[in-house]
Amino acid sequence: MSRRTAISRRIPGARGGKKDDNVDMLQIIYGSAATKPFARENLVDLLKIARPKNVAADISGMLLYHSGSFLQVLEGPEKSVEELYAKIQKDPRHTRCLLIWRGSIQQKEFENWSMGFVDTPSSPWLN
Ligand SMILES: Cc1cc2nc3c(=O)[nH]c(=O)nc-3n(C[C@H](O)[C@H](O)[C@H](O)COP(=O)(O)O)c2cc1C
Repeated sequence: MSRRTAISRRIPGARGGKKDDNVDMLQIIYGSAATKPFARENLVDLLKIARPKNVAADISGMLLYHSGSFLQVLEGPEKSVEELYAKIQKDPRHTRCLLIWRGSIQQKEFENWSMGFVDTPSSPWLN
């Protein structure tokens, strides 16, 4: 039977997503392939590191994992997002990072998510 896990993290009192007048906000969406299949524990470990770091850098977004593939949205101050994406691209836990979208945003779309996470169900239609 397929398993579905959806974990969201709402940060009480987190900054609103309105554009700060002095900071350009950037949104990036990329896809990648896990180098080894990610077990739930691996994903939890990753999120435990990523979420507080994202809060500190004012970055929000979401991470989707399905059957060895990642899709991630990162959004926040331009410099912070660029630096994080550069670091993530070098992470040996995945490969073949493909930039799908990169653009300025006026307002965050995932403003209260330090990194929402969805582990999609494995559907027989997708196998
Ligand atoms: C698919 C994927 C998504 C990641 N997303 C984030 C993220 O949103 N924030 C983050 O800080 N690290 C993320 N990481 C982990 C970073 O690559 C890096 O390991 C982590 O930020 C620790 O970096 P440091 O050792 O330089 O502190 C992600 C890694 C992978 C493989």
